[in-house]
Amino acid sequence: MQLKNDLLLRAARGEKTERTPVWLMRQAGRILPEYRAVRSSVSGFKELAETPELAAEVTIQPVDILDVDAAIIFSDILVVPEAMGLPYDMIEQRGPSFPKTIQSLADVEELRSTEAHLELEYVYEAIRITKKALNGRVPLLGFAGAPWTILAYMVEGHGSKTFSKARKMLYTEPQLAHLLLQKITETTINYLKAQVVAGANLVQIFDSWAGILSPAQYREFSGPYINQICAAITEVPVTVFAKGAFFALPDFAHYPCSVVGLDWNMDIATSRQAVGPDKSLQGNLDPCALYGSFDQIKAETHKMLQAFGPDRHIANLGHGVYPDTAPDKVRCFVETVKEYRHQPES
Ligand code: CP3
Repeated sequence: MQLKNDLLLRAARGEKTERTPVWLMRQAGRILPEYRAVRSSVSGFKELAETPELAAEVTIQPVDILDVDAAIIFSDILVVPEAMGLPYDMIEQRGPSFPKTIQSLADVEELRSTEAHLELEYVYEAIRITKKALNGRVPLLGFAGAPWTILAYMVEGHGSKTFSKARKMLYTEPQLAHLLLQKITETTINYLKAQVVAGANLVQIFDSWAGILSPAQYREFSGPYINQICAAITEVPVTVFAKGAFFALPDFAHYPCSVVGLDWNMDIATSRQAVGPDKSLQGNLDPCALYGSFDQIKAETHKMLQAFGPDRHIANLGHGVYPDTAPDKVRCFVETVKEYRHQPES
């Protein structure tokens, strides 16, 4: 089906756009009272994510309410470890928790890999329902976690400031880490390809814990697996978002991805130089800027848009929108991007 608004896909491919497209990481769920209403009608996050009609409904809410230029499928990066054989619980106010974690070679060998994506039919069904309901209004984004970030949860068992158990494995059992990363990579490739078959127009890889690795470790344990995924997904553009990994930007220049996400720690001009002219950039307003006044939000957004320039930019925050952000402030950010016109170069 022809998309009525394909600004984001054109920007991802490096084509000229009338204006900069805009969406927000973690726009589905979290901030909208309309989301919380649907969420409270079920037992919790997991039931919502596993019920395709409801997942589709909350995926479309930000398109209706915030007027963003893309929808992102309502799911979680942790469905991949679950499909591989490590179920998770989502604990209210605390976040994810895995009753069973990866500690040994036997644990890694027990995990499913090539067939695991077949467990995630509910995600593909949610994508198909969303696409039908969107009726071409905006592109639908699929996603997965980067293998390193997924390993971090599988080994640690829950969120952590340091992920020291996961990082310990890189020192004490590097071969085991590589075996696990390769298994996750294979599942992730099959999973993203199935999302594309179901209708995803672009897929984003979230490497949320990239920034806790040293540059050398990143080059060994994260980058190469992301590169494999980018190389395998040839059907749609791929976005790589590696939070905190400014040191990896020159590597991403050589990956077969279309878009590189920036967090707000990354200087825009320096990042553009590091990534080079042949990729689009996404980001990177500090999510905390949305706690400011409407005037502050407009001023900060203008500064960001000027720094990126008119081409090869998809406006976004530098990380997911924080749960206590007022929807009005999000709408101000979105409207400011949509109203902005770059001055023609003189
Ligand atoms: O972007 C979207 O809106 C689509 C849905 C989406 C969710 N999680 C839904 C969700 C996406 C893209 C994710 C990605 C995700 N999940 C990441 C990568 C992005 C990032 O923020 O760095 C990570 C690290 C996770 C793991 C995860 N899921 C954590 C740590 C938590 C608990 C804290 C939190 O972020 O809210 C979740 C739960 C989760 N995933 C919620 C939602 C809407 C909140 C659950 C609820 O409604 O109670």
